[in-house]
Amino acid sequence: MSLRAAIRTIPDFPKKGILFRDITTLLGDARAFRKAVDELVQPWAGTKIDKVAGIEARGFILGGAVAHQLSAGFVPIRKKGKLPHETVSMSYTLEYGTDEIEMHVDAVAQGERVILVDDLIATGGTAEGAVRLLQKMGAEIVAACFVIDLPDLGGASKIEALGVPVRTLVAFD
Ligand code: PRP
Ligand code: ADE
Repeated sequence: MSLRAAIRTIPDFPKKGILFRDITTLLGDARAFRKAVDELVQPWAGTKIDKVAGIEARGFILGGAVAHQLSAGFVPIRKKGKLPHETVSMSYTLEYGTDEIEMHVDAVAQGERVILVDDLIATGGTAEGAVRLLQKMGAEIVAACFVIDLPDLGGASKIEALGVPVRTLVAFD
C-alpha cells in the first residue's frame, strides 16, 4: 500500500472546513509505518546524526522511530509547561494568534547535528519555532522531515528560506 493510501482524511475536524490528515491509520499499518520511517531517514542513513528532535505530539512517534533507525538520541520539543527541567522557549505563529514551544536547556549541545521530525507541515509556524529554538541552542539542523506536506500553505518554503533542507513524503492539496 502507498503511504498516501495509508493516511486517512477526516472532514471537518477539529473544525468545519478542515480536512484533517490522520496518520493513526499509517502508524497502525506495520508496513506503512516502517516504509514512512525508512523513507524519512534514507538520505542520512549511515551519516552521523547526533539528535532527532520531535515536535509534540505526533512528531514524538515518528521522531522516536527515526532516532532509533539513525542510532541518534531523541529530543522532545513540547508545548509550554510540560517539561520538568530548565527550558528554553520560542513563541511561534499559528493561523490565528501565537503559541510557545520549549525544550530542555541541556537537550542539544553546540554544534550537534540534528534532524527535526513532525508528522505534517502546514503553515510551517510550528516547525519555524522549533528551528529557531534549535538554532538558538547552537544546533546544526541537517534537515526538517515530515510525512505530510500541505504545499498550498507554504510551510516547506518557509523552512527552506531559513536555510534548512526539507524532506516530505506525501503532498495533499
Ligand atoms: C499539527 C502537526 C504539526 C502542526 C503543523 O500539530 O502535527 O505539529 O500542526 O501546523 P503548522 O505547520 O501550521 O504549524 P497540532 O498543533 O495539531 O498539535 P498535536 O500534534 O499536539 O495535536
Ligand atoms: N495540522 C495542521 N493542519 C492539519 C491538517 N489538515 N491535518 C492534520 N494536522 C494538521
